[in-house]
Amino acid sequence: MGREHRCLKGQGIGHSVDGGFAEYVKLSAFSAVKVPRSIPFEEACILGCPIGVAYRAMKGVGQLHAGETVLVTGAGGGLGSHSVQISKALGARVLAVTTSSHKVEALSRLGADHVLLSPGLDFHWEVLALTEERGVDLVVDTVGSLVFQPVYESLGQFGRWVLIGQLEGQNVSFNPAIFIFKDLSLLASSGVGRKDLRACVRLVQGGKLTPQVTAFPLEEAKRALELLGQRQLLGRAVLTP
Ligand SMILES: NC(=O)c1ccc[n+]([C@@H]2O[C@H](COP(=O)([O-])OP(=O)(O)OC[C@H]3O[C@@H](n4cnc5c(N)ncnc54)[C@H](OP(=O)(O)O)[C@@H]3O)[C@@H](O)[C@H]2O)c1
Repeated sequence: MGREHRCLKGQGIGHSVDGGFAEYVKLSAFSAVKVPRSIPFEEACILGCPIGVAYRAMKGVGQLHAGETVLVTGAGGGLGSHSVQISKALGARVLAVTTSSHKVEALSRLGADHVLLSPGLDFHWEVLALTEERGVDLVVDTVGSLVFQPVYESLGQFGRWVLIGQLEGQNVSFNPAIFIFKDLSLLASSGVGRKDLRACVRLVQGGKLTPQVTAFPLEEAKRALELLGQRQLLGRAVLTP
């Protein structure tokens, strides 16, 4: 069915199989994609996740078109910082939400047309002001339930909402009528297939996307995780055993 991003028998390294911190891993040849020498290993590490994951969510599932306005939540994170760049590469106007003041400048550099610094997560007021009260066409949501209400308020008529992250475990409750009256589409996306992964290799090779990665030696794995938990890093952390 062309849905190779989701193998029903697949086991994710670091999810259901150990080895996420290892120097070598064994994979089926099917899962291998050639990486050109011009892309360093540290950057290549994140081509699949989060870069490919963000690409598939925006282009394949979210059907993002040039000229549309997109909102990215958790913009300073692994998925978020690459969603910002991919939206820009696809010709969209990009509104990036961050809770971290130290990431604002970098997010503008990565292509965000507007960076919404919103530690209180009440960013919908700013979104509406920036869209002449219309709201956005697409939301790529990497944060989940914590931002359910402001994301809903930020969406325009016929808006598409692609869920790709859920940072905390809470449920949300909503009245289905609010989706009906706005003609909203609630979508979700996980993983990436080889076709989209190859497209991401080309984006990086062509200079349209710069992988945002901080490398740490294996001995500093704990520090890397702490820094991620404190939202200090822009993009992803990679361990170099
Ligand atoms: N669908 C998939 O296939 C897929 C793939 C990978 C990951 N995920 C999921 O997606 C989510 C994000 O992953 P990630 O790798 O992007 O994580 P990450 O690198 O830790 O980024 C998350 C970002 O969200 C923001 N954030 C953190 N805590 C927050 C809070 N309490 N309230 C509001 N914003 C907060 C921060 O950005 P700012 O500093 O800019 O605010 C943070 O950098 C996780 O739930 C992960 O499991 C899904």
